[in-house]
Amino acid sequence: MVRQVKFFDEPVLAIETSCDETSAAILIGDKVASNVIASQIEMHQKWGGVVPEAAARAHVEAILPVISTALSDANLTLKDIGGLAVTNRPGLVGALSVGVTTAKALSFSLGIPLVGVHHLEGHLLSALLDTPPAIFPHVALVVSGGHTELVKVSAPGQYELLGQTLDDAAGEAFDKGARLMGLGYPGGRAIQEAAQNGDPNRYPLPRSLPKDLLNFSFSGLKTAVLRLCEKEGLALNIADAAASLQEAIVAVLTTKTIRYLEGSGIGCLTLVGGVAANIALRERLRGECTKLGLQFSTPPFEYCTDNAAMIAVAGSIRLAAGQSDGYGLDVFPNAELPNP
Ligand code: KG4
Ligand code: ZN
Repeated sequence: MVRQVKFFDEPVLAIETSCDETSAAILIGDKVASNVIASQIEMHQKWGGVVPEAAARAHVEAILPVISTALSDANLTLKDIGGLAVTNRPGLVGALSVGVTTAKALSFSLGIPLVGVHHLEGHLLSALLDTPPAIFPHVALVVSGGHTELVKVSAPGQYELLGQTLDDAAGEAFDKGARLMGLGYPGGRAIQEAAQNGDPNRYPLPRSLPKDLLNFSFSGLKTAVLRLCEKEGLALNIADAAASLQEAIVAVLTTKTIRYLEGSGIGCLTLVGGVAANIALRERLRGECTKLGLQFSTPPFEYCTDNAAMIAVAGSIRLAAGQSDGYGLDVFPNAELPNP
């Protein structure tokens, strides 16, 4: 891990319940000792998306067993934990409340500090879980179901938003495209699998590159996929359509990010968030960074989609800096990235 980053001295237990994964992880120093994820995806699949009330109830059922498993996987008991981190923003309020209430109860009963973590800060610092870890300053491309952002990360806790999507997130473009092609939810992985033997040049789809250099737009792509499905009907070749959609998204994300990096003087790019699990995107960005002599860091696959290990990393760094929150810690559906 990066030498200049200071982690909390004692084991940190982290909890993530912002959307449809109940996760608990333990970080000892800069190493993940355990990371347990109970996914609700199967339950939400039948509704075609996440139902907030059902998500909160499922978190209530899963949270204690998930924490127990995280402790036993790390060969620890609650008495060994020195600090707690929990996602408290942004996310579904009912879902977040389950994690935050549990973390407060643990903090009170164990007499140890608790820190609330911004979900996107977790994704951003997940790049410290790559080998070698991200160096500072760097530019992060954050691509998930709800976010498509370019962020300058000067140091942990120092974030500057450089650009973002004007409409749909990259993950939404995958998810909506997959739904139109009948590939189900969540769509990113389904598109990647369907695209494996497809021709990315078969169906020309738009690459939206708004003049405003650092913003993204994916809503036109969704409309173009809808038109394509309507026009081709049953004749649509799913492998070729999936490959064409994936290529359109990868091309836009790569072009914009590399254009910015070229003139920036910054030596490292990170790729984080659920869409960072996309192999085509990882390989394209890695190749471009190699050509430019830049470091490229992206977390192992298990730390791309929502997980508590990334929350543990962000929380551990904050706890090591002496930060903690009281029992008044609240949950927020929307929140700006933290900054000093
Ligand atoms: O970070 P994440 O787990 O949840 C949010 O914070 O949104 O990201 C979920 C998103 C979904 O849109 C999903 O389709 C996408 O990540 N995703 C992928 C892949 N795996 C997950 N997109 C493209 N390729 C993948 N392999
Ligand atoms: Zn996420």
